[in-house]
Amino acid sequence: LLTWVLPTILSYFIGSISFSYLVARYLKGIDIRSHGSGNAGATNTLRVLGKVPGIAVFFLDVFKGMGAVGIGALFNSSEVGLVVCGIAAIVGHNWPIFLRFRGGKGVATTVGVTALLFFYAALISGILAILFIILTRYVSLGSLIYTISIPVILLLMNQSSSIIWLTTVIAVLAIYQHRQNITNLVKGQERKISSRE
Ligand code: G3P
Repeated sequence: LLTWVLPTILSYFIGSISFSYLVARYLKGIDIRSHGSGNAGATNTLRVLGKVPGIAVFFLDVFKGMGAVGIGALFNSSEVGLVVCGIAAIVGHNWPIFLRFRGGKGVATTVGVTALLFFYAALISGILAILFIILTRYVSLGSLIYTISIPVILLLMNQSSSIIWLTTVIAVLAIYQHRQNITNLVKGQERKISSRE
């Protein structure tokens, strides 16, 4: 109980802290989820509130993912246990208990979790994602490439099958949360990266 259930629940609560929601509430008194794409995340904060709040939310969400893994490490030293805490934080970000379970897409949180646990895979995926975002101006495409390439790179690096499966779960969560973005991309109607719409 103490090594698995407690850190997983704590990580879910940490993940549930929605920095995009808090920053938009504090700076503008608005609910970020009724503006722009309606997503409670860094990209939409950039779109609705501008560069500094957008970048701040990105890093806060990254640190949130790292924080959940850090909390996990206090209870459970296995790598699998830490990835489970990371997944719990991503689930909290996507379906936050404090916001009636309507949150974000979990990508910045995933970046934090993976940067801490799988530095080289995160670095390569990060470079790939940034290249795609610069070339296409679609953050959602970069996000999908990031989350999908993590398990692929870990597979190429001969990581254990449980780690590959768990990071695949992270990718599947991201694909599911981006279902509207994927439809928009296919139709050519996806929003390009912008600050202040
Ligand atoms: O990580 C979220 C990003 O990939 C897409 O955000 O607001 O454009 O749906 P948004």
